[in-house]
Amino acid sequence: MVIHLQAAGTSFVLDARGSQPPSIVHWGAALGDLGDDDLAALGSAAVPAVPPSSLDTPPRLSVLPTLGDGWSGRPAFSGPSRPRFATSAVTRPSPGSVLISLGADGLAVATEIELSAQGVLRLRHRLTNTGAGSYDLGSLGVVLPVPARAAEVLDFGGLWAYERRPQRTALRTGAWTRETRHGRPGHDDPYLMMLGTPGFSFRGGEVWAAHLAWSGDKQLWAERSALGPTVLGAGELLAPGEVRLAPGESYTTPWTVAVWSGDGIDGLSARLHEWIRSRRAPEPRPVVLNTWEAVYFDQSLERLTPLVSAAAEVGVERFVLDDGWFRGRTDDRRALGDWTVDPERWPSGLTPLIDAVRDRGMEFGLWLEPEMVSPDSVLARDHPDWVLGDDAATWRHQRVLDLSVPEAYQHILDSIGALLTEYPIAFLKWDHNRDLLQEGSAHRQTTALYRLLAELKHRFPSVEIESCASGGARIDLGILDFVDRFWTSDTNDALERQQIQRWTGVLMPPELLGSHVGAPTAHITGRGGALSFRLATSLFGHAGIEWDLTTASAAERAVISAWVAEYQQRRALLHGGTTVRSDGDDPDRLLHGVVAPGRRTALYALVTLRAPGTAIPEPVRFPGLDPVRRYTVRPLVLGSPPRTVQDAAPPWLDAGAVTLPGRVLAEVGLPPALLTPEQAQLFTVDASPD
Ligand code: DGJ
Repeated sequence: MVIHLQAAGTSFVLDARGSQPPSIVHWGAALGDLGDDDLAALGSAAVPAVPPSSLDTPPRLSVLPTLGDGWSGRPAFSGPSRPRFATSAVTRPSPGSVLISLGADGLAVATEIELSAQGVLRLRHRLTNTGAGSYDLGSLGVVLPVPARAAEVLDFGGLWAYERRPQRTALRTGAWTRETRHGRPGHDDPYLMMLGTPGFSFRGGEVWAAHLAWSGDKQLWAERSALGPTVLGAGELLAPGEVRLAPGESYTTPWTVAVWSGDGIDGLSARLHEWIRSRRAPEPRPVVLNTWEAVYFDQSLERLTPLVSAAAEVGVERFVLDDGWFRGRTDDRRALGDWTVDPERWPSGLTPLIDAVRDRGMEFGLWLEPEMVSPDSVLARDHPDWVLGDDAATWRHQRVLDLSVPEAYQHILDSIGALLTEYPIAFLKWDHNRDLLQEGSAHRQTTALYRLLAELKHRFPSVEIESCASGGARIDLGILDFVDRFWTSDTNDALERQQIQRWTGVLMPPELLGSHVGAPTAHITGRGGALSFRLATSLFGHAGIEWDLTTASAAERAVISAWVAEYQQRRALLHGGTTVRSDGDDPDRLLHGVVAPGRRTALYALVTLRAPGTAIPEPVRFPGLDPVRRYTVRPLVLGSPPRTVQDAAPPWLDAGAVTLPGRVLAEVGLPPALLTPEQAQLFTVDASPD
């Protein structure tokens, strides 16, 4: 049969006739309703010519391309044998999915393919050793064809506090391969590999993208060859011997999540965000205060009580006690693993603090780093055999706890269970501050982590968990099955955050991305930032504060209160709307926004990173609105208005509002105020009554 999955403007066609592994005929724009005859005709018509100097059968890209079936590109599968897979069954578990069973000498593969209602494609394989001896898997991944017109590749690099730096290059003959060996995705995670038509942008171009839903080592690649289609590939990166299957044992790959868009990167985000939201209960995201940059390790009831009061006064809804609360943790050189409350700094335990927090109407959250252990800790001294790698170098003065040791796993589960039982903790900030750097350990550590998180979620279903890894080094769709928030980056510098949030938000919806207002001088970069700019930056995410508010002036606190109220009032829009970004001509002026479902209302931010490129900047164009509806655009001021240098503001801004059709706002736009660098101007956009 020829199978057609179609949803949300996307089609995926698979020719599953015959005994060869099914071949992928199309992944891209929706093809409309096709009957069985059309599909059969398409399957046959898609068979290419046989070129000279090649196999005598027409080359087709199967769901599991290997040398054995003539694929000389990077294979989807490698191992000690060279199997030639044949199809044993193809079934349709649901209208949107396909299950393919393949077999070869001593091996069986089950391939699951799903196209969600939002147009998100997911694929994974399960390999079973059906032979008599053990089998050392080399690699097993997903390979998808993309058309040759997808000639540019865009993915990400980055480093601590500067995550998700986009990089773009033309794809030439050969493979553009990204491999990560951090035991976590890393600050330089390729994250989402996008292949698109030349010049594809936020609002335009055709784009095919892939992400591996996995928190360990991985590989993502794009490959172009004269001998077959251009492909996008993804899979776990395995060290030799890391996955050794005994007879009857199986290995399941992480899901490869793949998306096509005919309308630029925003089209990818729209599908991904909708799909991610469809899989989660939409809990309102509370305003957070996190103590890290407020007090660091300077913890005590006396020190923190005024901060609790200040947080409550501005409207904070969740107070999170960061690193420094547990036994002996006076700095970052010791005590990881000793997860009991420090009796010196907290002589009465955490109860007095938690009571103060809850009495002021806030939830309480707690920081942990369960996968780590300090050499200088009771845990490491008592159980040196639980520490991963006996000769591993320290990193931030810490080592990794080997969660594949059952006793270590149980100890951590019990320690966290005891804390969650003793204290009314609503939220865990789950940190992970080093690479593993132990060859062959990432797979077992990652699967143990997922098991641990699943077990905790099962036992404490109301406790939310944040995935933090020295900031944003573990943001992926694998761990998202178990967590509720990501710490996007350790930097709270609004200027850096504008770019980091813009690009992290290509995959993850804003409500999952922690975004905190930092101190007036950013702790990591030392850069000063206007309060209005810092507030406008944090508004578009899961908002919070990471600043010792007891040092803020009364005027600053009043502005923050107003910002909290604004966030609360617009939370449904901010966290349920469609993210839009304009391409603009000036790379130092960014426009981004959220448009409510139904497109009745929207909120945009015009952001200036550096000095303008021209004296009179281009009008601001508002993407994503209904072209025929009329909208009123008004500036929204949080605190003081953004700083400008101009002799006169554009008249429409002086008037305070303008009403125009959505098409005019999108095509012509409105002249902006002449903002100085590092400013943000917010605009509310509301549809006129019908
Ligand atoms: C790294 C995190 O990213 C920070 O936010 C903070 O929690 C520190 N660890 C604490 O050690």
